[in-house]
Amino acid sequence: MGPGWRRAYKTKVVEPIRLLERAEREQRLLQAGYNVFRLDSEDIYIDLLTDSGTGAMSQAQWAALMDADEAYAGSRSFRAFHETVQSITGMPHVLPTHQGRAAEHIYFASTLDRGSVVPNNTHFDTTRANVLALGGRPVDLPVSEALDPDSAASFKGDMDVDGLERLIRTHGAARIPAIFLTVTNNTAAGQPVSMANARAVSEVARAHGIPLMLDAARYAENCFFVREREEGYGGLPVTEIARELFGLADGCLMSAKKDGLGNIGGFMALRDGALFQRCRDRLILVEGFSTYGGLAGRDLAALAVGLREALDASYLAERVGQVRWLGTRLKAEGIPVYWPPGGHAVYVDAARLLPHIPVGQLPGQALVCALYLEGGVRAVEVGSVMLGEAAQMELVRLAIPRRVYAQEHLAWVIDALSRVRERSDEVVGMRLAEGEGPLRHFVARFDPVI
Ligand SMILES: Cc1ncc(COP(=O)(O)O)c(C=O)c1O
Repeated sequence: MGPGWRRAYKTKVVEPIRLLERAEREQRLLQAGYNVFRLDSEDIYIDLLTDSGTGAMSQAQWAALMDADEAYAGSRSFRAFHETVQSITGMPHVLPTHQGRAAEHIYFASTLDRGSVVPNNTHFDTTRANVLALGGRPVDLPVSEALDPDSAASFKGDMDVDGLERLIRTHGAARIPAIFLTVTNNTAAGQPVSMANARAVSEVARAHGIPLMLDAARYAENCFFVREREEGYGGLPVTEIARELFGLADGCLMSAKKDGLGNIGGFMALRDGALFQRCRDRLILVEGFSTYGGLAGRDLAALAVGLREALDASYLAERVGQVRWLGTRLKAEGIPVYWPPGGHAVYVDAARLLPHIPVGQLPGQALVCALYLEGGVRAVEVGSVMLGEAAQMELVRLAIPRRVYAQEHLAWVIDALSRVRERSDEVVGMRLAEGEGPLRHFVARFDPVI
């Protein structure tokens, strides 16, 4: 029996990987202060740290790379990128950035005042950190099902619209420079946002004169879920669904390292010409001229192709199908996973897998370390280490790079996690030894609690 999806590509270039001996893995992890961000990639067998910038480019993208124009100003690769973004989003003003967080920084630096409040279905970590760094207060408004790892609801990434209205009543619209919707909702286990919810949020935003912004890193995966699950969208081209979604918003920020199928890149797209000019001036100050924004012409050329490829329904069916297969198999093995699987990752519920480790001893971080020791697999904690006090669950994310791993790689991950589960009582908790602030997870060091 097949895995339930059809492959949309075959392999042309290979990259060797190897599995270190267990004793070597133990030593590497100790040297890395039990933080897998500090490991060298050669020390990793299967890397599920992130789906960001880790995808494989297509032959059409590599061809575009060779054909790119590296002119400082007005390059034709910028024009190709610009036209692609405009045609997907329908937004007139586009600024390229070197990645998503640069677009976040420039946008918030141009719109926030001290004391501003920014609602989001759930802020991604860099978005939260940028709002905080620029004097604002990030507020997460997930729906209650998002916090239930067993609810099979279709759109657990939605925003709590009543909560949004309460927030606006409490603070007043003038203190809210923008409402954000993150599609898919990465921090809420990669769950999608329904078109109905996006429409409801957009109506509230319009009624109060507040701009609605999309964090569009995984908008194509989100639109594929809308096509699969929401009434009235079955069989529609994903491009059309995307047009409708962007049509509800006043602008978007995008890390193009996800659904742009690029290894680097990001952008901001806006309807407001005056805001665009403010952001453009800041972009020139910190990223580069407005026709390259911190990217090489070849990056822009590859993104112009990748952004369109990511909207292909057969590519998306394979992508989402692969993640779903991993989640379904893990669940069948008795591993507690957040349900249903999201678009780009499967999230393991570390608190339930390791119930003997209290939240204060960071069960997610403990599981990340155990998985590396067991199978050379790198995952990432999305719990108290990454989110601090905002953490509602202790999850470990297995993010699947796009077009990179085959079923055999994922089967290895399932075996490794099953072995961790069999000996879960031997896994010990972790204590933060070094690192502070909202981005501490990148650089922190830990000690095992022995
Ligand atoms: C939802 C979301 N927003 C923003 C970002 C930041 O993008 P970048 O890593 O390109 O700076 C990410 C990155 O993972 C993300 O997942």
